[in-house]
Amino acid sequence: MGKKIAILTAGGDCPGLNAAIRGVGKTAIVNHGMEVIGFTAGFSGLINKEYVVLDANKLSGILTLGGTILGTSREKPFKLEKGEVFNYKPGLIKKSYEELELDCVVCIGGNGTMKTAHLLSLEGLNVIGIPKTIDNDVFGTEITFGFDSAVSIATEAIDRLHSTANSHQRAMVIEVMGHNAGWIALYAGVAGGGDIILIPEIKYDIEKVCRKIEDRFTRGKISAIVVVAEGIEKPENISAASYIVSKIQQLTSIEPRETRLGYVQRGGSPSAMDRILATRYGAYATELIAKEQYGLMVAIHGGVLGSVPLEEVGGKLSLVDPNHSLITKARNMGVLFGDE
Ligand code: F6P
Repeated sequence: MGKKIAILTAGGDCPGLNAAIRGVGKTAIVNHGMEVIGFTAGFSGLINKEYVVLDANKLSGILTLGGTILGTSREKPFKLEKGEVFNYKPGLIKKSYEELELDCVVCIGGNGTMKTAHLLSLEGLNVIGIPKTIDNDVFGTEITFGFDSAVSIATEAIDRLHSTANSHQRAMVIEVMGHNAGWIALYAGVAGGGDIILIPEIKYDIEKVCRKIEDRFTRGKISAIVVVAEGIEKPENISAASYIVSKIQQLTSIEPRETRLGYVQRGGSPSAMDRILATRYGAYATELIAKEQYGLMVAIHGGVLGSVPLEEVGGKLSLVDPNHSLITKARNMGVLFGDE
């Protein structure tokens, strides 16, 4: 009898999740004769034993679909809810796992999901993690799927801001996602020709930001594009973009406007690169299961697929190194990161 495996998608959704589900499932069914089910709504489905059978038909036609056919949630099974003194969820998970006679659970998610997957492996479950998030902040791998799609979406938006900024001689501030990491802002900022790029990993001086904007106009430029990561330092209860706009209004004679890109960065069909990466991650995860190698997260380094122990990954972040070569190159072309 082939193995019986389950897949779940947890945390924020992103383009490529269905490509990853397809990569795991089709490799399992076609190459290894495995039985595949999918828990709905992330770890909630595993706790409540809510699942669907993932057969060839169910996996057909989903490669290009945005979102996740399984749904997702931000359920954290090991986190005690307020007032709880005993956490019954890990016990329910083990019960689901045993009653369904599973050989492995493939957890597709971000750093929080990898932490939960590791804790489940300590409870005796066979698990494999697949790193997903538009933020690209999962420790232990060079790139997560979802990131390329988000950068493409953000870049296309920045491209569009140049023309309206020039028409009105404005400073356009665009806020992109990324949680506490600046990867999307850095990559989309450079790809979109941003003049100023603010990321959480580099402490910025708002006076220098405003002076750079004024200098541009003094030198005859008729616009400025400011790309900010949502996680930059700012006062409470004001968005990053609104804060930067307010300071430009206060400290310069230039007219600013803001765009908060939000959830469009997580929507729609995955880019070709994300389809490829998600497919590679999914197929590789299934090959690890076939070799009964568990407690690992699939990863990529230097374009080569591999895996890292979940215990080395869970709960850590992959943040932008301020000395990243792309930052150096951008600085050498006149892009300001707010610290010089
Ligand atoms: O982790 C992906 C992400 O989009 C972050 O960039 C963002 O800060 C967060 O999710 C938003 O969370 P939610 O979808 O719960 O609003």
